[in-house]
Amino acid sequence: MAVTRTFSIIKPDATRRNLTGAVTKMLEEAGLRVVASKRIQMTRQQAEGFYEVHKERPFYGELVDFMVSGPVVVQVLEGEDAVKRNRDVMGATNPADADEGTIRKAYAESIEANSVHGSDSDENADKEIRFFFDEDELVG
Ligand code: CMP
Repeated sequence: MAVTRTFSIIKPDATRRNLTGAVTKMLEEAGLRVVASKRIQMTRQQAEGFYEVHKERPFYGELVDFMVSGPVVVQVLEGEDAVKRNRDVMGATNPADADEGTIRKAYAESIEANSVHGSDSDENADKEIRFFFDEDELVG
């Protein structure tokens, strides 16, 4: 299995509850390495751009409002089959459907305030990493 990278966001509901370390611990215990990380206040323009694929969805406006409601931690994670590994430890989008042992089962408040985002493909991981990080910030 190849070592690949994925992109993660620890969302405002988790940073607000001081869960950055707890979430990161679960990512690390799942075999992912944090190779870049920064805590940022996303601008509305960044949030709209990042979630552009969901523009026509009814929840888009509220999703953007939520993502700018407090600081987030954007991270690049590396590991074997990183996209799937991260999605497995995150659990289902809706915490009501998330399996035991997943981040969303442990910490998510709702389908919107669901504590973490993770890329859904290698191609999107690459795009999402480049959306938030410059090459020289990926220190390994
Ligand atoms: P994320 O992986 O960040 O990608 C899109 C986000 O939209 C998703 O996680 C959820 O937090 C959010 N969202 C809010 N409402 C819904 C919904 N009804 N269905 C899917 N995603 C939703």
